[in-house]
Formats: sequence, C-alpha cells, structure tokens
Amino acid sequence: MAIRKIAKMGHPVLKRAARAVSDPKSPEIQALVADMVETMADANGAGLAAPQIHEDLRVVIFHVPAERATDAPEDKPEPLTVLINPVVEPLTQERELGLEGCLSVPGFVGAVPRFTKIRYSGYGLDGQKIEREASGFHARVVQHECDHLDGILYPQRMEDLSLFGYVEEVRRALEARDEAHTVEEAAD
Ligand code: NI
Repeated sequence: MAIRKIAKMGHPVLKRAARAVSDPKSPEIQALVADMVETMADANGAGLAAPQIHEDLRVVIFHVPAERATDAPEDKPEPLTVLINPVVEPLTQERELGLEGCLSVPGFVGAVPRFTKIRYSGYGLDGQKIEREASGFHARVVQHECDHLDGILYPQRMEDLSLFGYVEEVRRALEARDEAHTVEEAAD
C-alpha cells in the first residue's frame, strides 16, 4: 500500500475516458484499490477515482460519512464502497445544487447541479455485482466520482460559475448567512 500522488485539474489523465477493468479480482486491481483507500484517507476525501492517481481505469471508491448523509430516504451512511466499471442511471430529471470540492481541484468549491435520485451498479473487488439506489449526498458523491471516469471534473458540470470560489472565501460568505456547514459537506 502506498499514498499516491493526486493529479490536478489540467493533467491529461483527468480529461480522458478511463478503460474498463477486465478482471475486478485481479491482484493488480486489489493493489490499486488498496492504494486508493490509503490515498483517500490521507487526503480526508469522501471519494476517489482511479484517474486521480494517474491510473486510467474505471474504478471508484467512496463512502458516505454519517455527518454528510441528508434526510433523503436513500441517503444513509455508507461504509467504504468499491465500484468497478460503474454505471449510473438517473431515476428523475430533478436536479439540485450542492457544494462540491475535489482533491484534483484543491482549494476550491462550487455549487453543482446533480440528479437527486439515481440507480447505480458496478462490481466489487470480489467480482460480485453491486446494485443500489441513492439520493442526497450518496447520489452526489457517486455522480462526482463516476464523472472522473469520463474525463469530467465538477466545474464542467456547473451552470453558474459565480458559485465557484476559493474555499476560504465561500466559507466566509456562508458564515455570514449561517450556512458554513455546507462547505464542510462538500464531496471528495
Ligand atoms: Ni473529484
């Protein structure tokens, strides 16, 4: 296991579609995920996608900490989930704005529209299929991480760039409105 270097916005590895994994149970994927888990924990992230550590493969990890879960019915705390070759399908056209950060865009946060309810599937490290429905933060973090596999960073999903800014400035502005907690809840 090792803490890996995180690619930052502008690096080509973050701009291309990642390759499908042929065998989720292979030793190479087990080792990759071990490094991703260690790197995410070190960076205090809620999720991480393989391209962020310069690996061009369709693998994401995430968790939903209790303090980030919202009141939505499918948004309960989730332990660490490994998703290989994930597929995300919106279950509604409804979207909502929520603040996101990204380990590849350090120091910034932005309000990003995301589908409020999704179904997602993929494979775990044991090769078993995972299929879940998610809403709230859970749905947001999955959409954010899976976007990385298609070369999309959250600023590219934003429709109002006036809602993009330095963490410190956004926190200060929200504190004035007593909403600073939303900065702490930003994804990944
Ligand atoms: Ni990210």
